[in-house]
Amino acid sequence: GRLVVLVSGGGSNLAALLAAHDGPDYPARVVGVVADRASAGGLEIARAAGVPTAVVAPGDFADRAGWDAALAEAVAVFRPDLVVSAGFMRILGAPVLERWPDRVVNTHPALLPSFPGAHAVRDALAFGAKVTGSTLHVVDAGVDTGPVIAQVAVVVEPGDDEASLHERIKVAERAMLVEWVGRVVGGGMRVEGRAVTVG
Ligand code: GRF
Repeated sequence: GRLVVLVSGGGSNLAALLAAHDGPDYPARVVGVVADRASAGGLEIARAAGVPTAVVAPGDFADRAGWDAALAEAVAVFRPDLVVSAGFMRILGAPVLERWPDRVVNTHPALLPSFPGAHAVRDALAFGAKVTGSTLHVVDAGVDTGPVIAQVAVVVEPGDDEASLHERIKVAERAMLVEWVGRVVGGGMRVEGRAVTVG
């Protein structure tokens, strides 16, 4: 199965998916990486692995619709079976979601529906949550609202700050992402309302 990974940041999730290729039976392969900024660390990780990249930066487009369309085109070039938003800090518009219905997934560093949005780790700490984690979900038109594929829990330790907690979440998140992307690509996924069936 062909994966296209969308990144804005460091790309540790991307690196985990690339490392999974080295396993003998992993059914998915990263065939392209698309970033919304040229400075995304994930682009370096992709280049080092010999994976082709594209940058579609909002500043290069007159309006949101232009960027949405260009992003869809950049992803389509790689003919993905599954699009993985892994630390991509933008909301995906209709051109992407309608082209790959129920074939775009996202990792979020909290147990949805708690703490959606861009500051999930900080928000969980500020709330005083004792358990948080990460969610892999199907992307729909809302912000972190799509049907849940998998979740992993992470205990908040006394003395945690945003960085230490996010680091532990990311360790758990990477393992979940690799496992479930493999299952989705290898066995297929059906989405009916909020019910997700994998395999
Ligand atoms: C992940 O925790 C993801 O859930 C969040 O941002 C982080 C991205 O990490 N949205 P990386 O760029 O894959 O290292």
